[in-house]
Amino acid sequence: MHLLWVLPLLVEAHNKTFLHHCTNGCQCQEEFKFANCASANLSHLPLHLPPFTELLDLSNNHLMSIPRAAFQNTRRIKTLLLHDNNISVVTDGAFLTMENLQKLDLSRNHLSHLREGFSLGLGSLKELLLAENKLSVLDTRSFQHLDGLVRLNLSHNTIHSIPVRAFGCMSTLRQLHLDANRLQKLRNGIFSMLKSLEVLSLQGNIISEINIGVFTPLTSLALLNLASNNLTTIHFKTFLSFHTYSTHILLVNNPWHCDCDLQRVFHKLQSVQRFFLDDYYNLTCTEPAELHGDKLIDVDAGLCIAETVTVLIITVTVVITVVAAIVMAERKRKKRIREKHWTEGGSDISYDSQS
Ligand SMILES: *[C@@H]1O[C@H](CO)[C@@H](O)[C@H](O)[C@H]1NC(C)=O
Ligand SMILES: *[C@@H]1O[C@H](CO)[C@@H](O)[C@H](O)[C@H]1NC(C)=O
Ligand SMILES: *[C@@H]1O[C@H](CO)[C@@H](O)[C@H](O)[C@H]1NC(C)=O
Repeated sequence: MHLLWVLPLLVEAHNKTFLHHCTNGCQCQEEFKFANCASANLSHLPLHLPPFTELLDLSNNHLMSIPRAAFQNTRRIKTLLLHDNNISVVTDGAFLTMENLQKLDLSRNHLSHLREGFSLGLGSLKELLLAENKLSVLDTRSFQHLDGLVRLNLSHNTIHSIPVRAFGCMSTLRQLHLDANRLQKLRNGIFSMLKSLEVLSLQGNIISEINIGVFTPLTSLALLNLASNNLTTIHFKTFLSFHTYSTHILLVNNPWHCDCDLQRVFHKLQSVQRFFLDDYYNLTCTEPAELHGDKLIDVDAGLCIAETVTVLIITVTVVITVVAAIVMAERKRKKRIREKHWTEGGSDISYDSQS
């Protein structure tokens, strides 16, 4: 009987340490160092979070801005989830006191600009997720203080311009996702310093121009995704800098202009052992009109025939011209000899007739 009376109290005590309401709408679990404030209708950051918090989930709220040093009472936070809010302003130094932060998720917000002060204090950050915002240009110094970043997701923004050295200090970055943006041109220098980069994903942009040296600094690249862009042709030299054991290159869904030059580049790329053109068999031609929609592998044997024929015609023309010139010269020589013979022969005859 005693035990039955005590049991509910024990359970309640247990629940209290395990899970309790800490501050407006949040639930905190000391054991897991977890403050869960997701989907709590918050329009301001909660004020009194327990200092033990290492994982703070503020996703799915109505937050609009992050003030300076916003998390100064919870310095142990390692993971901060702010995705699916309405954040358009991150004040300079917002994350200033977060020297333990390793993952920051700001996906699906309304950020249109990252100023230099954005990354202040984020020297330990390994993963930064900024997908599905409204970023259109990157600042040279937006990521200035992110010395240890490993993964950066900037997909589904409207980025159309990357300044030289925008990713300047990121020598530890291994994954850069820039899918579904508005990049048109990859200029030399925009990926300088990214010597640890293994994955560069540029799928779903409108890239039509790639400067030959732009990938040169990427000596560790294992996957380059250029699918669904606006490429009509490529240059062999563009890919020569990759010195990894294997580099996979994705190129499907581009409006390829199938001509002899393109065919030669692809044949050369395929002959390099460390390159893998994983979707080569799915590449289709957009130009010329008569090959529109055809698979490149089905037509590539014929692409250089026209050029071969042209070369043949030129060779034959040259040969004929040379032969003709020789024949003409020979004829002229013979004619001259004959004329000489005539004049000399004439005097001979007259001589003869005299004798
Ligand atoms: C998000 O912010 C915009 C202004 O930036 C505002 O018009 C809109 O009502 C906000 N939405 C929510 C769900 O808070
Ligand atoms: C990057 O973000 C996009 C959009 O949220 C997501 O679909 C994609 O899986 C992310 N990529 C990685 C590698 O996390
Ligand atoms: C090529 O296309 C086929 C059919 O359309 C698809 O099943 C396959 O996954 C594609 N392969 C690549 C590497 O994109």
